[in-house]
Amino acid sequence: MATILSVASGKGGVGKSMVVSNLGLLLSRKGKKVILVDLDIGGANLHILFGMFHPPSTLTDFLTNRIKNLEEIAHPINPPSHLRLIPGTGETLITSNLQHAKKKRLIRHLQQLDADVVIVDVGAGTSYHTLDFFLLADYYLAVATPDPTSVLDLYRFIKLAAIRKVLTGFLARDPVSEALLTKDFHSVAEVLEAVGRTSESGVALAQEALRDFQPALILNRMGPKARINTLQLQHLLKQYVGTTLTVAGNIPEDPQVHHSILKYLPVIDLAPTCPAAQAFQDLGENIFSLISQPKHREEEGFAEPRKMRA
Ligand SMILES: Nc1ncnc2c1ncn2[C@@H]1O[C@H](COP(=O)(O)OP(=O)(O)OP(=O)(O)O)[C@@H](O)[C@H]1O
Ligand SMILES: [Mg+2]
Repeated sequence: MATILSVASGKGGVGKSMVVSNLGLLLSRKGKKVILVDLDIGGANLHILFGMFHPPSTLTDFLTNRIKNLEEIAHPINPPSHLRLIPGTGETLITSNLQHAKKKRLIRHLQQLDADVVIVDVGAGTSYHTLDFFLLADYYLAVATPDPTSVLDLYRFIKLAAIRKVLTGFLARDPVSEALLTKDFHSVAEVLEAVGRTSESGVALAQEALRDFQPALILNRMGPKARINTLQLQHLLKQYVGTTLTVAGNIPEDPQVHHSILKYLPVIDLAPTCPAAQAFQDLGENIFSLISQPKHREEEGFAEPRKMRA
């Protein structure tokens, strides 16, 4: 079974797809069989970053059942042959109204892809689809820039993802009160309270689900004067969400990144010695060692974190 990484952000345009393309290429160069999946609903453009203007097939073909197996739309990116891409769909009517059964089928196929690593670009925002695609992963990566709105949106995103994870973790074991899933909660504490009212053992189950939720932060577009108070962000998330946030990488603002997008090439290939490409080498090392560590989820009996409900 592949290790799944999901890449998200609260705010759009902060560099998720750029991170996914460069990280995917780096991990494939380290010998991993990598598949990139564009689940950015309505905003799919990962294929363009690799100069794939007319993908032979996309997620639309899979979601409309024209193609039965997700593996068939994983297109090789040349070079190297270790890297493949599942292009997203621009057809928002199909995807934004993605029915529960279709979402489950998609998630099931994602988990069965023949790869070492699957990297999912989940797009920006906090819709249920975005949160569920983010949470289907084994490792969660969140991207933010020093822009204060990006940091605030990231905090909101992580809080809502934690709430969704706690609820789905609890309901996976104790589905008596599915109605909780559609209730509007503002904090993890509120969720735990509601869960506690529903079932005696609920709080322990919900807390168990939260224990496995430790996103890693990728800071992008950093400059000599740019600063994100990561300590404060980590403190807030620990205190109000109960989540530990680690920093996995720090990518500088670099004109070569913009240049690489115009050339349809990941920056690590276009300008391997530029500051952004060098920072990606460090990020690649960090992620490589992260995914090489054994995950004890199953042995510890966590609450089926891959199980999703719409
Ligand atoms: N480190 C950087 N240095 C300079 N420019 C950057 C950097 N990172 C991203 N950019 C610029 O930001 C643009 C947006 O990046 P990207 O498309 O990866 O963001 P995104 O988060 O995937 O956006 P969306 O939410 O729309 O999917 C890029 O086209 C590039 O011009
Ligand atoms: Mg994007």
